[in-house]
Amino acid sequence: MIKIINLSKRYGKLQALDNLNLEISPGEIFGFLGPNGAGKTTTVKLLCGLLKPTSGQAIVGGIDIQQQPEEAKKIIGLVPDFPFVYKKLTGHEFLRFIGDLYDVSEEDIANKIPKYLEMFELASWANELIENYSRGMQQKLVMASVLLHEPKVIILDEPLVGLDPKGSRVMKEIFVNLSKRGTTIFMCTHTLEIADHMCNRIGIIQGGKLTNLGTTNELRQQVKQGGNLEDIFLQLTGGSEYADLLKYLE
Ligand SMILES: Nc1ncnc2c1ncn2[C@@H]1O[C@H](COP(=O)(O)OP(=O)(O)OP(=O)(O)O)[C@@H](O)[C@H]1O
Ligand SMILES: [Mg+2]
Repeated sequence: MIKIINLSKRYGKLQALDNLNLEISPGEIFGFLGPNGAGKTTTVKLLCGLLKPTSGQAIVGGIDIQQQPEEAKKIIGLVPDFPFVYKKLTGHEFLRFIGDLYDVSEEDIANKIPKYLEMFELASWANELIENYSRGMQQKLVMASVLLHEPKVIILDEPLVGLDPKGSRVMKEIFVNLSKRGTTIFMCTHTLEIADHMCNRIGIIQGGKLTNLGTTNELRQQVKQGGNLEDIFLQLTGGSEYADLLKYLE
């Protein structure tokens, strides 16, 4: 459902993404992990057609995002790292706008908007301007807008940042449920516990290069001391060597 071929992105002298190759199957929940600045958001922007690659290809649902951006975007739902909303609209108006943009039927709009507002506990805020929403509430609204147009592929950049524990749980349940119905999910996250529970496969990116790929169990076999995904991740990314850094506090 997602095919990334030799994809690279350079910002001036910085090689932010270096020859990424990746294939993700329909219904898979793929976790894309990596330290800050590794190239995750760059990959997300390339996948959604928000950035032009320096070289290589991204194909979503068989459609090349560079060749047919509008067709590809119809089947992609993006939850970016910073919620993108029109602050002078109300929550209800925003959902209606997104519904119209994606040609959602009147019937679906009428049914689904109240349902999703309820599900994300935003019903009593439906007619308030988004500028009065907290960050977590905006994040939930963006998620509701993505559900509204039923994309085949959902791409999420740190979807759980800013959500309260119940919000994270609801979001997690939604992702698992959608994947069972065939939706493909590509998720960048630093929340390793959730990645461990949810993702079928994990890719680790460091300095723009994909360094590890596999199930949590497969990644565990690549390190000396197993443990949970956080232990494995820190060993694979050299993040377990932090004791030295404490000297700066002395
Ligand atoms: N518009 C830009 N211009 C120049 N450099 C950029 C730009 N966007 C990102 N970069 C650089 O590209 C590299 C990868 O950034 P990216 O945002 O993809 O990282 P990330 O893995 O998403 O990190 P984080 O976990 O902090 O979100 C970083 O070194 C960053 O400084
Ligand atoms: Mg990022």
